[in-house]
Amino acid sequence: MPTHSAHISGLGTYLPERVVTNHEMSQHMNTSDAWIRERSGILSRRYAGKEEPTSVLGTLACQKALEDAGTSIEEIDMIFAATLSPDHYFPGIGVQIQNALGAKHIGAIDIRGQCSGFTWAFSTANAYLRAGMARKVLVVGAERHSPVFGWDDDDRNVSVLFGDGAGAIVLEAQPETTPRQGILDNLVGCDGSGLPHLIMERPGMGQGRDDFINHDDLEAKNFRPRMQGRQVFKHAVTRMSEAATQLLQRNNLDVADLDLLIPHQANIRIIEAVGQKLGIDAEKVVVNIQHTGNTTAATIPLAMEAARQDGRLQKGKCVLSVAFGAGFTWGANLFYW
Ligand code: UT7
Repeated sequence: MPTHSAHISGLGTYLPERVVTNHEMSQHMNTSDAWIRERSGILSRRYAGKEEPTSVLGTLACQKALEDAGTSIEEIDMIFAATLSPDHYFPGIGVQIQNALGAKHIGAIDIRGQCSGFTWAFSTANAYLRAGMARKVLVVGAERHSPVFGWDDDDRNVSVLFGDGAGAIVLEAQPETTPRQGILDNLVGCDGSGLPHLIMERPGMGQGRDDFINHDDLEAKNFRPRMQGRQVFKHAVTRMSEAATQLLQRNNLDVADLDLLIPHQANIRIIEAVGQKLGIDAEKVVVNIQHTGNTTAATIPLAMEAARQDGRLQKGKCVLSVAFGAGFTWGANLFYW
């Protein structure tokens, strides 16, 4: 049995300045503020400019998390970075963040779990701490994915939903206590048969192809994410509520024991449906999608910050974060703040 557990000692977030309203989007494609609000709960989202690629957003969030934890990069043993919009096809953002933070030669592991990426990175980081392989780590989720969304009628079902942003936490090892404190448990799951329902096909070197991207791909805009919204919606509700229930049950906790549910912010109707399935009071469910949109790997830490700001996330509170995304992937984290 591991002798260590871990806890969250710092949180930092960063949102780019530019606010993109539904109204602005409706001037470029056949959509409306009313449609976007009713179908998703989103009023506006943030877009980062070219001076703020994903690695920069992630670095800024990490700096704030380090400050919040009252620690410095010299104390950090590892970085776990989640994104689906890296600055480059390779290497990932982990090494860039490591360098930008001025870290020594510590490891920086990129995690590809799309919207579940932060929950997966959280889970992986916790395993390192519990195994005694690290004492203090950074977990970061960051996205500047706005450039891949087309502002046209073909892509409107996807582009209106997403925004840029970043969030990071510091996790620290601590001696195991009775009763248990800090991070209790994590769950990671996926179903690769869901791949066609949400995918950005190109650039890539998939089956039957011997080129990375070609003229036909550009013409057909195969570099745009494609989503079958209803399929994704249905699976998101099912998997997120199942993951939450499973994690609570195996820790002998009930929904009533939770102080806060921090769900991935993809659509307010998904969040409400998960809340209803779990039977949790609506005031215990964190919703901040209105002004961020879906920030993919950054939704969970951004929602943590929203709950801290509104006073609901306080020391000792029992929290469950849960996410679902392309792959299909899902993940959940159960912890005392
Ligand atoms: O983070 C994980 C990844 N993403 C998600 O979890 C998102 C999951 N899916 C969803 O949130 C919802 O399915 C959407 C918000 C994408 C769409 O809502 P919906 O209620 O499932 O609508 P729908 O896809 O069934 O489309 C209804 C209509 C269609 O028109 P017709 O066929 O009824 O004439 C769409 O073409 O709405 C149309 N539509 C739009 N209209 C105005 C789709 N996107 C838009 C738009 N503005 N932006």
